[in-house]
Amino acid sequence: MLSAPISQEKSGVARQSVFITRAIPEEGVAVLNEAGLTVHVNPHHRPLQPEELIKEVGRHDGVICQMVDRIDQKVLQAAAGRCRVIATCAVGYDNIDVAAAAKLGIVITHTPDVLTETTADLAWTLMLSAARRAGEGERVVRAGQWRGWGMMDFLGTDVFGKTLGIVGAGRIGTAVARRASGFRMKLLYHARTSKPEMEALGARRVALNELLESSDFVSLHVPLTEETRHLIDEKALGRMKRDAILINSARGAVVDQDALIAALAGGRLAAAGLDVYAHEPAVPPELVRLENVVLLPHIGSATVATRTEMARRAARNVVAVLRGEAAPNPVRLP
Ligand code: DGY
Repeated sequence: MLSAPISQEKSGVARQSVFITRAIPEEGVAVLNEAGLTVHVNPHHRPLQPEELIKEVGRHDGVICQMVDRIDQKVLQAAAGRCRVIATCAVGYDNIDVAAAAKLGIVITHTPDVLTETTADLAWTLMLSAARRAGEGERVVRAGQWRGWGMMDFLGTDVFGKTLGIVGAGRIGTAVARRASGFRMKLLYHARTSKPEMEALGARRVALNELLESSDFVSLHVPLTEETRHLIDEKALGRMKRDAILINSARGAVVDQDALIAALAGGRLAAAGLDVYAHEPAVPPELVRLENVVLLPHIGSATVATRTEMARRAARNVVAVLRGEAAPNPVRLP
């Protein structure tokens, strides 16, 4: 059993309780404690199985979840009745059936803003690493196979002065673009509407096809929706320059992973930098075998400061809803 039945105050009045699906920084738990809430945390060092989640959610007034928890109709139905708020410790919420939650009167919240800069840094980590073959070089050094400096060894591609195409000009895409000025890059972006901050950076809004055809680096920053699933498919990859580099720190399913593997293996695309995968934590062995791809374990927001702020923000959203106030960061239906 994951948690005891909700505790009773001496007066006999049940305290409101919050369930945390997997450990978060203690600063987030402190926000809940300070608000007088009883907190139960999944004691296991693993995400919960769907049945475990279903068993827990209806026994609490609020839930703090993570992007690995699938909050589907079944889970929401189990939560309904008692649970009033589910706060995800992430900006993306493609793991949550927001429409079903709205029908059941459960408020869904997320953690925008606090992870923007950290995630943009990670996109640049991938870009620079893929361009300069950093992963490959590190593997050689660690394996004791480095034979010394060689004029013709590990030749990568320059980043400065190149064209960066940003797909999705929200908070993170814009933060990635901001960093490009130090590299004197030409900026293109693809978004549904014109973005003043992007334009102020000198970025030009173009159709997706033009962006793919003209960019040396393509960095993806769209949420995963039915519209963006496999946005970068075989055809899109075929439009990219052969020496281009694709960066994905958004969601794995935005790219057709099999098509990407074929493009990288067949020399149709120079390289890629990935922080996200189609079926996490599975990473296809075909991808692992490729030298021209940098693979990171979904760490876009993984700094101490950012994860602490995400936890605090999720907790503040729960506290607000349980106090009958408006959530600071609600997820709204499109
Ligand atoms: C998010 O916030 O959506 C990330 O993928 C996890 O930090």
